Amino acid sequence: MPHNILTVTMNPAVDVFTTTAQVRPTHKLRCAPAQTHPGGGGINVARVLHRLGADVLALCATGGVTGQALCAMLAQEQVAHHALAVAGPTRESFTVHETSTGQDWRFVLPGPPLASAEWQAALDWVAAQRAAPRWLVASGSLPPGVPDDFYARLARLARACGAHMVLDSSGPALAAALAEGVYLVKPSLRELRELTGQPLADERQWLAAARGLIAAGQAKVVALSLGEQGALLVSATEALRAPALAVPVASTIGAGDSFLAGLVWALDRHGDLAQALRWGMAAGAAALLGEGTALSQPHDVQRLFAQASVNPL
Ligand SMILES: Nc1ncnc2c1ncn2[C@@H]1O[C@H](COP(=O)(O)OP(=O)(O)OP(=O)(O)O)[C@@H](O)[C@H]1O
Ligand SMILES: [Mg+2]
Repeated sequence: MPHNILTVTMNPAVDVFTTTAQVRPTHKLRCAPAQTHPGGGGINVARVLHRLGADVLALCATGGVTGQALCAMLAQEQVAHHALAVAGPTRESFTVHETSTGQDWRFVLPGPPLASAEWQAALDWVAAQRAAPRWLVASGSLPPGVPDDFYARLARLARACGAHMVLDSSGPALAAALAEGVYLVKPSLRELRELTGQPLADERQWLAAARGLIAAGQAKVVALSLGEQGALLVSATEALRAPALAVPVASTIGAGDSFLAGLVWALDRHGDLAQALRWGMAAGAAALLGEGTALSQPHDVQRLFAQASVNPL
C-alpha cells in the first residue's frame, strides 16, 4: 500500500531511559525502572508523524532480539513499518537523567556493521516501490559499513521517482547528500557550522549560509534549527525566523526529530512555509515537555501551535 511519507532509518535503536540521583564512577548507580522506546532519527520522525495523523511508513534495518523488540514496540504504537533484516543486533541507546542536576547523560552505541548486501537492500526496496511516496525522510546516523554516499544514493532515487527528499544527518553523509541535492535539509546550527566550516556567529551569517546551500542547488528549502534560539526556514523566495517557544524543558532529546515531523506534516497538508514553520516549532517545543526519549504529544503540539509566531527576515 502506498504511503504519503516514507522515513528511512539505517541505524535504529531501542532507547532505554532511566533516572538516578547522581552519576559518579565506581559506585552502583541505583536507577528507576527503565522506560523503553523505539528510536533512531527516522523512527522518531515516523512516530510523531503517526501521532499527528499522517500516512507514514518507517523503513528500518533491524536485527537480533533488540530488532524484534523495536518492531514490536512500533506495532504496539501502530506505526506502519517495514523492517529489513540484518545480521547484527540493533543497538540500544541508554539515557540517564540525573535528578540532582536535571542533566541527561546519553550513551550512544555505534550500531551493528551492515554488509553491502544489507544496505543495498534498503535502496532496492525504495526503488522497487510502485507508487512513490510524496516525502522521503532520511534521518539519523549511518551504522558502520554503510558508505558515506548512502543518503546521496537515496536522494538520487527520490529525484528519479518524484519524491521530496528531506534530510537530517551530519558529517560526511550530510555533505555527500547535499552535493547530490535534496528538497529540504534540517541542520542544527552545530551541523551547519561543521558543514560550512564557518563560525556562523549571527542571524545574518545563518541566512547567508542557508542561501548559499540553495544557490548551489544543494537544497530547495533549509530548516536551520537553533535550539533555544528557535529556527530559520529559508527558500529561494522566502526567509522566515521563529523564536523558540517558552516551555518548561524536561529534556531536549528528540526535539529536532519532532520539529522535523511537525514541519513535514504541515508541508504535506498545506505546502505553506510559514505555517509549516509554526507547526515545526510547536512540535519541537512539545518534545521538551516530556522527560527522556518521550517525543511530542499531539494535544501539546496543537496547543503550542497557537503560541508559535513567525516573522519574515
Ligand atoms: N532548550 C530549548 N528551548 C526551547 N526550544 C528548544 C530547545 N531545544 C530545542 N528546542 C526546539 O527544538 C528545535 C530543534 O532543536 P535543535 O536545534 O537543538 O535541533 P536538534 O536536531 O535536536 O540538535 P542536534 O541534532 O544538534 O542535537 C529548535 O528549533 C527549537 O524549536
Ligand atoms: Mg538533530
